[in-house]
Amino acid sequence: MQDFRKIHNVEDLRAAAAAYLPKPVFDFIDGGAEDEVALRNNRSVFERVRFRPRTMADVQVRSIETTLLGKPAGAPIGIAPMGGLSSFSPNAELAMARACAAANIPYGLSTAAGISMEDLRAAVPEARLWFQLYVFRDDRINEALVSRAQEAGYEALLVTTDTHVAPKRERDRRNGFSLSLDKTPRNIMHVLSRPRWIRDVLVGAGLPTMPNLAVHAPEIVDNLSATKFFSQNRRYGFDYAHLRVMRRMWKGKLLVKGVMRPDEAMQVLECGADGIVMSNHGGRNLESAAAPLEMLPEVVDAVGKRMHVLLDSGFRRGTDVVKALALGAEGVLMGRPAAFAVAAGGEAGVSHLVALTRDEIDRTLGYLGCTAIDQLGRDHVLVDRAMPGRNEPGL
Ligand SMILES: Cc1cc2nc3c(=O)[nH]c(=O)nc-3n(C[C@H](O)[C@H](O)[C@H](O)COP(=O)(O)O)c2cc1C
Repeated sequence: MQDFRKIHNVEDLRAAAAAYLPKPVFDFIDGGAEDEVALRNNRSVFERVRFRPRTMADVQVRSIETTLLGKPAGAPIGIAPMGGLSSFSPNAELAMARACAAANIPYGLSTAAGISMEDLRAAVPEARLWFQLYVFRDDRINEALVSRAQEAGYEALLVTTDTHVAPKRERDRRNGFSLSLDKTPRNIMHVLSRPRWIRDVLVGAGLPTMPNLAVHAPEIVDNLSATKFFSQNRRYGFDYAHLRVMRRMWKGKLLVKGVMRPDEAMQVLECGADGIVMSNHGGRNLESAAAPLEMLPEVVDAVGKRMHVLLDSGFRRGTDVVKALALGAEGVLMGRPAAFAVAAGGEAGVSHLVALTRDEIDRTLGYLGCTAIDQLGRDHVLVDRAMPGRNEPGL
């Protein structure tokens, strides 16, 4: 049993996850593409934004409640969609959805989740659920996934566009972790050194299949065939014409996940999307991709209030969240922190992460002389220019 009194931040959750998971599984979550420059920059970029505190203010009564996609939310955060979660902890998606529902924040379910969208909806009817769509070559699968999400009452559809080329993640290659984990002596040793994970996941719940897809693909019978189907049938190309079709199919909020440029943001708006989740996939795909935070000011300047602008990648602290809000974001999604939290302690771990983040957001708000989220603005931050005179108005 995890003692959460000793877990003070995401780095502590990460260490607890590393102690629970076999190394190749931990590396799959933790790692990034190639030299991991994008991954590191996703963190270091926050050091280039600092606060301009306001001290002469009565901040005794504060609220971090806000509005996300036009609905009240308990905090300006949500959990980003992640595939494979149930390989990190049994029933991980359920744990995340429950923790999010308790805090009234949204949870993004991945196409590659270990639970079907219908089962999750039935298990946590009160949750704010968003469905993340990876697009497949067979349009019948895309249409079926979208209409099932609609039928199951998902609030938003997040179409991920930043994985249009298969990534090169070298930690996974070194660990022999592609479709499944190679049974090398070293990997067997890594697995045997994590008996709790063996008990809970490997022989307990079992490695997950992808039930969202399995309905449409009889060849999916286990974890390996699911991963194989997923990687062999994805459509590595999604354009504005596809987005318009998607817009006609999906009646709820439609967000494009992965757009980072102002010109693309304007175009997806033109196609009828309601918003974007700016993302570089947590530094897992394009090496040296700019951090979404760096691109945020120019995107917000271009689209104004005409679309919902959320972002993810690198958010670990309440202060990080407040920096993005001050620069014009509506909300922030967290990926790896939630994966570490669920591995560290299931639903209680995710709730602990949410509580830590909420507390830090609230504290930061107070230091800035604010009592509500909608009081935040660019006036609250001081932004370094990475390369003076270049690429205005980025960081
Ligand atoms: C283990 C893992 C699995 C992921 N799977 C998906 C996925 O299935 N669909 C998707 O759109 N993004 C996926 N992502 C990306 C996240 O949604 C999110 O963009 C990213 O994790 C944010 O960066 P952060 O981890 O630094 O918070 C995944 C990320 C991780 C770490």
